[in-house]
Amino acid sequence: MPDLDPLSDTFAADPYPTYAALRALDRPEHSHVTGMVMLARYGDVSAIATNAAMVRSLEGHESKADALARQEAMNWDGMPYHERFVQFSLLDSDGDIHRRLRKLVFGKFTARALDPLEGMVRAYVDGLLDDFVCAGPIDFIAQFAAHVPGHVIGHLLGAPAEDAPQLRQWSEEVVQFFDVDRTEQKKTLAEIATRDFHDYLLALKAEREATPRDDLISGLIEDEREGRLQGDEFISTCMLILMAGHGSTIDVLGSSLHTLLKSPGAMAELRGDPALLPNAIQEMFRYESPLPFFHRHALEDVELRGHHFPAGTTFGLLYGAANRDPEAFNEPDTFDIRRSPNRHLAFGQGAHLCLGNHLARLNMKVIYEQLFARTSEINLAGDVPYKPGLSVRGPKVLPVVLEAV
Ligand code: HEM
Repeated sequence: MPDLDPLSDTFAADPYPTYAALRALDRPEHSHVTGMVMLARYGDVSAIATNAAMVRSLEGHESKADALARQEAMNWDGMPYHERFVQFSLLDSDGDIHRRLRKLVFGKFTARALDPLEGMVRAYVDGLLDDFVCAGPIDFIAQFAAHVPGHVIGHLLGAPAEDAPQLRQWSEEVVQFFDVDRTEQKKTLAEIATRDFHDYLLALKAEREATPRDDLISGLIEDEREGRLQGDEFISTCMLILMAGHGSTIDVLGSSLHTLLKSPGAMAELRGDPALLPNAIQEMFRYESPLPFFHRHALEDVELRGHHFPAGTTFGLLYGAANRDPEAFNEPDTFDIRRSPNRHLAFGQGAHLCLGNHLARLNMKVIYEQLFARTSEINLAGDVPYKPGLSVRGPKVLPVVLEAV
């Protein structure tokens, strides 16, 4: 097994040599860092992600004692709010429960349903740019990218616009506890954030019960009233939607702009012909996949390339590594805005395919259109360190100067 040290500076700066070494193994191996058999080849990742006997949750498939032992091994025990509202969700369910929960919100996330949102996103992005174009160096992450997803997802859900910074903080504090370094300090932060997030959503729910609106929360209240949602599902669904698209959108905005700044030819082509944007955006997700690592538990024995893995195996799906597999992509380490076909796995595959993928693409399209319309040049103004960890990929800071047209 090649060294897997996701918290090192070397891995943060460039995880792709490690991914290549994992792909080169003849047989996928167990990692003591993740406690999983790590899959890095496109074919292996895709085979497991689309196999119905490979599940996200072991609920109903293991004894209470085994569930507790697993939770303790992950340091996910003793967190009452996190256990109820984060460890169970639409993402962490399978089969009938998963299908029921996904169906309730799916219709709000289709490309057509999101169309009317485009004007709002454009006006918001334009307003943000007013402050930064021609304003000297800015940190594109903290001052620009970080504001967009909270505002857009909050709007969709029905949260007041002024609460977006708070939603972002809670999301970050919960999400940071998914990676491999689950320290006690991070655990406390995640639990307190989940509790406060829960209290906030309950208060918002009470408001919408009194005065329904045309938003996702009001729709979910109706679903609950008519028995399609039960128990903790209302809160856990709202939390998941707010969290899943937050950091990932910020990270891909940062990594894609950084990639374009290192590829001036591609940047110039996109400025000249914005019709290339949808294809380029597809490539941005492949090239630096912002959520590179998920997992599945095997309920049945499974064969991969002639190797046997027994039921009970937990697989680590390295979507970020699969997306650089030369067996699946021609010259995978080249950023090619015209790449076609480009069936990458950045949004997963199979039953849990990202629900927000159209929203993520819409945000990217509008942001790049506005950035190109409002600037004559974008220049890098400092170093760009990337975040450590296996679960996320994106710059910590991205200093840039936006020159006005
Ligand atoms: C910005 C880039 C994004 C990326 C790269 C991304 C990636 C992913 C991936 C890989 C999965 C599948 C997880 C698995 O296979 O276990 C997933 C699921 C999900 N994503 Fe995203 N996502 C993004 C944005 C969003 C947004 C904007 C939202 C919503 C506002 C969202 C909501 C969800 C939900 C609800 C699921 C669970 C779907 C299910 O289990 O059926 N995501 N995402």
